[in-house]
Amino acid sequence: MKWSMSSRFLAVGCAALLVSIAAGPRLLADGANGDDRKQDRKEDRDDRGQGHDNDDPRIKRGFDISPVPLNLRGRNRELVGLGSYLVNAVGGCNDCHTSPAYAPGGNPHLGEPTVVNATNYLAGGQAFGPFISRNLTPDPTSRRPANLTLDEFITIMRTGIDDDAVPPNVPSASNDLLQVMPWPVYQNMTTRELRAIYEYLSAIPHAEPPAAP
Ligand code: HEC
Repeated sequence: MKWSMSSRFLAVGCAALLVSIAAGPRLLADGANGDDRKQDRKEDRDDRGQGHDNDDPRIKRGFDISPVPLNLRGRNRELVGLGSYLVNAVGGCNDCHTSPAYAPGGNPHLGEPTVVNATNYLAGGQAFGPFISRNLTPDPTSRRPANLTLDEFITIMRTGIDDDAVPPNVPSASNDLLQVMPWPVYQNMTTRELRAIYEYLSAIPHAEPPAAP
């Protein structure tokens, strides 16, 4: 009796374990990411529809705060505005990807009224020890931001994987991850938000960092 009770528990326990092993990856796949993808698909449908969240106040604010003129030709206007908001009001990309980040006399850290350095805006070139921020502006030939496709950009923002092979390769040559760059935070954005950043970066002018003194 004692034996058969515990073996029944054992059997139930094993069955539960098997069920959870079988369900595990599915549960994971259907978790936050699954919901995220569903939401992104809904937003994509809305984008194609009429009057899509034109009233999202972040879009107008985004256009108001872009420090550079934007080329909207062939671009999704709502995404560009939202992307500008995410880059210039939330993401702080300018502080690391523009060298120097502020125009002469416009450095808020010195108590001056803020003026972003529009000439070298997001053209990279700031050094953090041995790590140099990259040029995010549209490549003159491919017209793609940082010369990345949308898929490559989203993968980088989500994983930090750095495939340009330029040393130092941290943590290792075969597993080179972007250092300093806060991708562990940006990876939490929705796909639509990352697309918006990409759309904005596609609409800004090409720029180069200043020549080394
Ligand atoms: C704290 C500083 C910092 C901030 C803020 C920052 N970055 Fe970066 N980013 C870097 C550095 C440094 C690198 C290069 C790292 C390396 O070489 O390991 C980099 C690399 C990148 C790359 C890789 C480019 C390539 O060609 O592989 C992309 C894309 C990028 N950043 C986009 C962004 C965007 C978009 C934002 C704002 C939402 C942002 N970064 C904010 C410091 C920063």
